[in-house]
Amino acid sequence: MTDLQPVRGTRDFYPEELRLRNWLFGIWRETALRFGFEEYDTCVLESEALYIRKAGDEITEQLYSFADKGGRRLALRPELTPSLARMIYQRARQLRFPLKWFAIPQCFRYERMTRGRKREHFQWNMDIVGQAGQIAEIELLSALVTGLEAMGLTSAHVRIHLSDRRLLDAVLDHLDVTADHLRVMIVIDKRDKVTPETLDALLVEQGLAPAQIARLNAIMRMATLAEIKAELGAVPAAVDLENLLGSLARMGYGDWVHFDITVVRGLSYYTGTVFEVRDRGAKLRAIAGGARYLSQDLDAGVQYPAVGFGFGDVVILELLADLKLLPALERQIDFAVIPFSPAEHAKALEIGQALRRAGLRVDGDFSGSNLKRALQRASEIGAARAVLLMPEELARGELVVRDMAARSERRATIAAFLAEPR
Ligand code: HAM
Repeated sequence: MTDLQPVRGTRDFYPEELRLRNWLFGIWRETALRFGFEEYDTCVLESEALYIRKAGDEITEQLYSFADKGGRRLALRPELTPSLARMIYQRARQLRFPLKWFAIPQCFRYERMTRGRKREHFQWNMDIVGQAGQIAEIELLSALVTGLEAMGLTSAHVRIHLSDRRLLDAVLDHLDVTADHLRVMIVIDKRDKVTPETLDALLVEQGLAPAQIARLNAIMRMATLAEIKAELGAVPAAVDLENLLGSLARMGYGDWVHFDITVVRGLSYYTGTVFEVRDRGAKLRAIAGGARYLSQDLDAGVQYPAVGFGFGDVVILELLADLKLLPALERQIDFAVIPFSPAEHAKALEIGQALRRAGLRVDGDFSGSNLKRALQRASEIGAARAVLLMPEELARGELVVRDMAARSERRATIAAFLAEPR
């Protein structure tokens, strides 16, 4: 027998679940538009080569990839940023920078399934391309906070953990780590997912000596930039981070952002500021993650500085459910049109169409149920009013309008009702 379950790690969205997803997408879209971002999209199918990176990114190992009937190596996109870089490359001469673009793509990763991680997810992407200064970070993080607030969250629920890859680079230099820093960083990114012993073993594999690992772990426990500066001196990344945190505090986001040297993010193309949104209880996986990067590191051939983030739909919906912050979204219909019998069907269709032409949401009940059942259904589908088409009233050119909430009824001529449907 055909398997009736959705493919492992993928979801079906029943209407009530889709209402919730649309609510979330609505907040994402509205926030992006309010910050002057434009929406774009690409196809879910891409060339596999776009995601093959040598640095050891987990994403490369998680590809849903295959050869098509023409022998082309393709992949379902695991993320959108390489496609964005490809689009920019194609029109680099025509596009006017800086670009502020957003998208809500569905992405696929063959992940080990844990809470908050599925094999497909939707991801709100916001990217500012072609702006080197910190103003890009400030705008982007500002949009991120605005989106979180629109979901009903406060800095008591979630925080943006912020660091800079260059700071970790300076730490590794300071510790005389000669191994490839990027590979070491990708190991450090696993900090929350593995035990301290496993992490140490992975660092040994990268060629770090026990003394270096002990020092590194001590630095990773430092909670403030001041401590890091005391250890490293005023390296440029520390000064930049201090400025960024200062600017964000002046914008009123002091409670939202939190310096955290352990933030690395798993993608090899990130170069500077890195951040992730985490729940305060640290119970869930990262809610969103982003960073500064250079488009040429995505093999796009053009060199634009960029900063962006990806914000998935899975963890946030779990968090909002835990916090009881999910809205109760009912169906909304303006009128349920209920013909008493098949003899009134033609009139019901006609009235339904007239109401729809007036811009109203209408559902006709042609189920043949008795009036009581039909009214019950009208209430279930969220109809504000029911229009009852009864033989005697219709013969006089009248209908009955029932206000579902007030449980009151009134009679009106069809002409008067259609002139002012209420
Ligand atoms: P990422 O950190 O790999 O970044 O993913 C961003 C967000 O997507 C995560 O924080 C999480 O919310 C969601 N996500 C990722 N994988 C899964 C999964 N298997 N199940 C559920 N949710 C998931 C990127 O993808 C970058 N391309 C983002 C970006 C845009 N960087 C610059 N611009």
